[in-house]
Amino acid sequence: MSAAEHQAWTPAETQVLVRAMTRAPSVHNTQPWLLEVAPGALSVRERAEPVLPHHDPHGRDRAASCGAAVANLELAARALGRSCAAAFLPEHGQPDLVARLAVGGPEAPATEELRRFGAITHRVSHRAPFEGVAVPGPVVREIAGAGGAPGVEARPVRAGREIAVVARLLHHAAESFRRDSGYQRELSLWTIRDESSHRHGVGLAAGRIPAGSVPWAGLVRRATEVPARAELAHRLSGETLLLFVTADDTRLDHVRAGYALERAWLAAVGLGLAAAVLTQPLHLEPVRSALCEDLGLTGFPQALLRIGYAAEVIPPAPRRAAEEVLRPAAHHDPSAPGR
Ligand SMILES: Cc1cc2nc3c(=O)[nH]c(=O)nc-3n(C[C@H](O)[C@H](O)[C@H](O)COP(=O)(O)O)c2cc1C
Repeated sequence: MSAAEHQAWTPAETQVLVRAMTRAPSVHNTQPWLLEVAPGALSVRERAEPVLPHHDPHGRDRAASCGAAVANLELAARALGRSCAAAFLPEHGQPDLVARLAVGGPEAPATEELRRFGAITHRVSHRAPFEGVAVPGPVVREIAGAGGAPGVEARPVRAGREIAVVARLLHHAAESFRRDSGYQRELSLWTIRDESSHRHGVGLAAGRIPAGSVPWAGLVRRATEVPARAELAHRLSGETLLLFVTADDTRLDHVRAGYALERAWLAAVGLGLAAAVLTQPLHLEPVRSALCEDLGLTGFPQALLRIGYAAEVIPPAPRRAAEEVLRPAAHHDPSAPGR
């Protein structure tokens, strides 16, 4: 089918696509993505700016954030009744092209897809304690299943020894980030400016990340209380934790990890749960390698998703305006193969 035969997107449909995409989670709410909308094809590109040299020196989280945006965009296209197939990093010569979604003719969405699409506007980072009610096993399995993608496994962290390992490593990471002055400066820059004072209007509003305590604060400031390991293990044992593990540690794996993470997160929200992600501790090489060794992982840990029943309502974080995200589409033949 040629590009001309593909149905063009109406302005209202384009709004649905861009709004869904921009509600995706992103590292420090940087929203490092651009969207090109063409008949039959949606392209997600990674912006050149901003970069986070202290928090995300290898760009793992930026790539994962774009992967999360692809998950939202795909659900939006499905909710609009189109068939949709995503190809990640489809052009070797264009590393900023994170994904191209080939969008075809009419195809009714499944109930599950509609429920997860509906969850997009309800999903927020729940950096707070959950209600002390255990998530039933079948629900955890459903969420973990939703977080499985090619090359990615969403693996529950088991009670007892595995939780103790994670608590020890989160404790180590928290202490080390608290002492890292370059990291603290960068964190302040991205979390203290409020929406109106930020150059792009995307900074987290002051106080959105509580100074509070690990693991609920998510990001560790100088003032964050780091509890003793036993206390941390006790807190974590009251939550459900999914660890996202990829087969390799390339850019493609990082994008896929973000895609899988968002799919699991939306499945959880669609089932009435709340969640928050932690990647910061996994950026420390000793933490990554100890996790692999002590949990016997056969791949690379990319993210931890805390899941539970919300004990409070968390307001949504601000987003870039649609005009800042939409770009004119480069010419592309949608019948050309991707990977
Ligand atoms: C790849 C990735 C890594 C993230 N890492 C962390 C983290 O280590 N700690 C944290 O508290 N939040 C983390 N977040 C959550 C973002 O800060 C959050 O998505 C963003 O501020 C927007 O807020 P929202 O999720 O409520 O929409 C991460 C999000 C993504 C996509």
